[in-house]
Amino acid sequence: MSKPAILTGLRANNDLHIGNYFGALLPLIDMAKKQAGTYQILLMMADLHSFSTPIDHTKLHDQIQDNLRTYIAAGLPIEQEDIFLFRESYIPAHSELMHILDCFTGVGEMGRMTQYKDKSAKIGTDRVSMALLNYPPLMAADILLYDTTYVPVGDDQTQHLEFTRDIAQRMNNKFGELFTLPKPAPEQHVFFGKDQGLRIRDLQDPQKKMSKSDESGKGIIFMHDEPQKAAQKIMSATTDSIGMIHYDLEKQPGISNLLQILSLLSGQGLQAVIKQYEGQTQYGPLKSAVAAALEQFLTTFQKAYDEVTDKTLTDKLKKSEETLNSIANKKLALVQKAVGLRG
Ligand code: TYM
Repeated sequence: MSKPAILTGLRANNDLHIGNYFGALLPLIDMAKKQAGTYQILLMMADLHSFSTPIDHTKLHDQIQDNLRTYIAAGLPIEQEDIFLFRESYIPAHSELMHILDCFTGVGEMGRMTQYKDKSAKIGTDRVSMALLNYPPLMAADILLYDTTYVPVGDDQTQHLEFTRDIAQRMNNKFGELFTLPKPAPEQHVFFGKDQGLRIRDLQDPQKKMSKSDESGKGIIFMHDEPQKAAQKIMSATTDSIGMIHYDLEKQPGISNLLQILSLLSGQGLQAVIKQYEGQTQYGPLKSAVAAALEQFLTTFQKAYDEVTDKTLTDKLKKSEETLNSIANKKLALVQKAVGLRG
């Protein structure tokens, strides 16, 4: 890339939820608005990543289109040249680089990844896919093809980001300077103005993170939830019986989650929100404030979503994918030469 890159990707295995929005999408869009002159901004539909765990394939294509529209509706300034919107499977260099990285990655190393361990413990190693084991090298390929420096992701992806740095360093040590290393997690957090990776929790079970694979849907706020129903999910969120508001993720994870969500929805810093509610003995007013802010946020977002036209989306994808194929192929050619595949 002619400028350093900021890139993130989101899977299309379900509708996006507010954790995806605030954990990855919004930080990227904020940077797109503030830094487009200095950085190239890449927003990737991680379509190949979307079925490393089982999904309903009759829905995948529509889900991909919906999510792409969501990225635009969330405010990605697509009219700018430095902003790219693309689908992973439309740039074959991603899969090709993944294979090369695979050859320098240990099976044991991948088996120790938290996400793989959790999922394979749930469904058994015979049923877990090879693609899930191989998820980090594909994610590393996504990042390394474009000399990406910053990668806004939620807390659950930090380990994959560390692996990306490791494999890039490993390849550079063996073959010379092939890849730019993304910055380590603490520098990423400073860049995106956060104390740490974001982790929005499930509203019904605040010990868990809010996750697209939650089957009941009660603890999760999807971007396409009907705004009033979403507000009701907030009103029935699990809290505790302590009876006083403190920001304490250990002892009061439900209340702390609501404070965090309110801070994100209102654009106020977390400390300002904590200051406003700390010590109050009623949980109702906090819940009502979160519910009202959420209803407003979803109504505005969904209106913007309805206004995204197919042509806007198709034109941007076409332009971005053409440019990125040529950039990615150059990086791939460099790596192919280094490993001896090309003269
Ligand atoms: P995915 O699709 O599972 O999630 C998309 C993004 O949302 C973040 N996220 C959350 N953030 C805060 N609170 C939550 N409860 C929450 N749940 C999810 C995730 O951390 C992620 O940033 N591997 C990635 C997709 C990917 C990618 C990449 C990301 C593929 N290639 C290259 C960055 C760079 C994933 O599964 O995201």
